[in-house]
Amino acid sequence: SPMERTLVIVKPDAVQRGLIGEVTSRLERRGLKLVGLKFMSISQDLAHRHYGIHEGKPFFESLIRYITSAPVMAMVWEGPNAVAAVRQTMGATRPTEAAPGSLRHDFALEVGRNLTHASDTVENGVKEVELWFAPDELVSWARAVDPWVFEQ
Ligand code: RTP
Ligand code: MG
Repeated sequence: SPMERTLVIVKPDAVQRGLIGEVTSRLERRGLKLVGLKFMSISQDLAHRHYGIHEGKPFFESLIRYITSAPVMAMVWEGPNAVAAVRQTMGATRPTEAAPGSLRHDFALEVGRNLTHASDTVENGVKEVELWFAPDELVSWARAVDPWVFEQ
């Protein structure tokens, strides 16, 4: 399967609730490889650029308020089919529609407090990684278990 990179944001509610480890742990144990990580407060400008596609929607202002309300952990994860795999681990956008066992099912109730962001397409994964990380903040590395997790 093709190697992909996806942007994950541990949103302010998950940071406040002490779930950075839970999110990270689920992605690690799935077999995905961490290639970038930073803990940060995000500017209005970055929030607007990241969620620009939702501008004009009724939830846009509350989404910007939510995502800028406290620090976030931004991460880049790599692996075969990483985009779909990570979306599946997070679960559906609305926690009450998320599959049992997914993060949003297990830890969330409301769409406006749904813990994480994950890129929704391979193309958006590339764009979002570029928006959030400088090239020298990303680490390409050979992981000893890679051949036991990645077929190619
Ligand atoms: P994300 O972009 O954060 O990974 O979430 P997503 O793809 O699963 O969902 P998306 O449609 O892109 O929506 C982005 C975020 O906006 C908030 N939202 N609120 N009140 C509402 O109807 C509503 N719809 C979306 C959620 O925080 C969602 O994750
Ligand atoms: Mg989205």
